Amino acid sequence: MTHPLEQIRDEALREIESAPDEQSLEAARVKYLGRSGSISSWGEQMKTLPKEEKPVVGKLLNEVRTAVTAAIETRGQQFQSQKESGALAKIDISLPGTPHELGTLHPLTQMWERSIEIFRRMGFSLADGPDIEDEWHCFDALNTPAEHPARNEQDTFYLPDGRLLRTHTSTVQIRTMQAAPPPIRVIAPGAAYRRDELDATHSPQFHQIEWLYVDENVSVADLKGALEFFMHELFGPGTAVQFRPHYFPFTEPSLEVYVKSKVLKGGERWIEVAGSGVVHPAVFEAVNKARGDNAYDPEKWSGYAFGLGMDRLAMILFDIPDIRFFVQNDLRFLRQFA
Ligand code: PHE
Repeated sequence: MTHPLEQIRDEALREIESAPDEQSLEAARVKYLGRSGSISSWGEQMKTLPKEEKPVVGKLLNEVRTAVTAAIETRGQQFQSQKESGALAKIDISLPGTPHELGTLHPLTQMWERSIEIFRRMGFSLADGPDIEDEWHCFDALNTPAEHPARNEQDTFYLPDGRLLRTHTSTVQIRTMQAAPPPIRVIAPGAAYRRDELDATHSPQFHQIEWLYVDENVSVADLKGALEFFMHELFGPGTAVQFRPHYFPFTEPSLEVYVKSKVLKGGERWIEVAGSGVVHPAVFEAVNKARGDNAYDPEKWSGYAFGLGMDRLAMILFDIPDIRFFVQNDLRFLRQFA
């Protein structure tokens, strides 16, 4: 003979399995397992049963409750997965996706990376210095006296406190030598600032790579050889390099560097790309004084330095007619270097 509880269970399971939607399933749950549902009310009736029947019916009641609860759970999950696959079916996989645009490196950054890679192969490491400098690092230590035009307010951006925006990356020469004794082999890429009118070839902020080599018996021949190697690596072996005498207070002799190459747009013109020279003994003396030693004894050590104009190099390499393009953030310009 089946117990009434078993009848309730069979009826409940049938109802749950055939529940057409979530509302009917919820109604079934309330009907059987709700507070006054037919299974729950058996819990009350238990109290009135004779003592010997209680364990048997109690066990059955538990089994029935577990079975019905599990059935409700299973049916609920079926509804859930039906909903999900319904939503998936609505997705049209033949539609084009949302494109993710990939950024690219700025042409100046590309230029820097190419240059740094060549310098690394030549055994140079990276050095750094602040854009906001003091007069000593920018001028005095570089043998540039107070009456020099570069120190004029018309040429240099001064801050109210007397500091300035460095007019060249040569400041990093000084900082590097202050920090470490020779030999030195560093490059320092960075921005420099001058009060230039903005036009197609001048910008108040431009970019340089400073280059400093200090060792024993360094000569102009080393300087020329190193620069020629660099330019050939950068612009190809057909590149001609020319040195023209010049003047910088911190180098003696001083040379301006011009290059010409068929591969460069702009053709057969000589283009000025760098200032350079053999480090002036007065620079070593200034560094020694600041260090409080004679680490850079000019009798023992010599060196060469360059300041490469990166904007100009990038302009001739990529055939860019106007320096202002670098900072205008015009995507039509930037996309060409992807
Ligand atoms: N600092 C110089 C300039 O900006 C370039 C330079 C660097 C010259 C190193 C000689 C040696 O014009």
